[in-house]
Amino acid sequence: MIARHRTRAIAGLAFAALTAASSIVLAQPEDDPVAEYRAMMGDDNPAEFWVMRGEALWSEPRGPASVSLEQCDLGMGPGVVKGAYAHLPRYFADAGQVMDLETRLLHCMVTLQGIPRKEALKQRFGDGARESDFEALAAFVAEESRGQVLDVPLDNPAMEKAYALGKEMFFYRAGTHDFSCATCHGQTGMRIRLQQLPNISEAEGARAAYSGWPAYRVSQGEVRTMQWRLQDCFRQQRLPQLDFGSQASIALTTYIAHNANGAVMDAPGMKR
Ligand code: HEC
Repeated sequence: MIARHRTRAIAGLAFAALTAASSIVLAQPEDDPVAEYRAMMGDDNPAEFWVMRGEALWSEPRGPASVSLEQCDLGMGPGVVKGAYAHLPRYFADAGQVMDLETRLLHCMVTLQGIPRKEALKQRFGDGARESDFEALAAFVAEESRGQVLDVPLDNPAMEKAYALGKEMFFYRAGTHDFSCATCHGQTGMRIRLQQLPNISEAEGARAAYSGWPAYRVSQGEVRTMQWRLQDCFRQQRLPQLDFGSQASIALTTYIAHNANGAVMDAPGMKR
């Protein structure tokens, strides 16, 4: 993993340089510092290291049951990874609920591998001290749907309900600032400083916002999942912490994914 850490250090330095440069070019609002970074890195996305680790984790016997995730059903049959992410979130009859990718991975860790839920959740997000299996596995599964067309239909009552709840939450104003998601993501062409804020309530913006997640976040040197993205926006919205895998998080992801239908999946992507 030395290579990975070296890449992260280089990535961090390059980003710092670009950020410094971008403060000079603020007069040109169309400039996107991550686009420059992408151009510099060529086809190399450091997320590749997470994909490789996720692929190894997928087939490694783990947990008290000492089994791999190769019998995990991501919705297309046990063990089928190819294309699975392009059809998530979806309703899972065995769990009796709608699940997104991360929640389904958690479900498989608990039910197949016998890892206690609390234990598994300890590493839901990686930091300098500890890598996250979710971030690696999500990167691997997403990579296996690159180029596929996102298709998340509301084809049963549970999906309809999740979408409706997600939509309600998206427009629900709360917190000390009385913000809703729509305050920042409900108009086209909004930006905070250099960051474009996609309009997630319509197809074009939702596709831009969704198709590249999970993503390597240049500013953090980590791959982050949609669950991470949402809890960070809860923080920006000054709401209480969003629980990983909660009904609320799945409903919001269902809302965004369904709005983004037709997107060509391009994850893991690269974000600021
Ligand atoms: C105070 C403004 C604000 C609020 C409120 C907010 N967000 Fe965000 N959101 C942001 C910013 C800023 C970014 C981009 C962050 C970055 O680039 O580092 C972002 C990014 C995102 C992205 C990824 C977009 C992309 O193109 O990659 C999604 C999805 C998202 N937010 C969903 C939500 C949802 C759902 C809510 C409501 C629970 C919400 N946001 C509330 C400011 C906000």
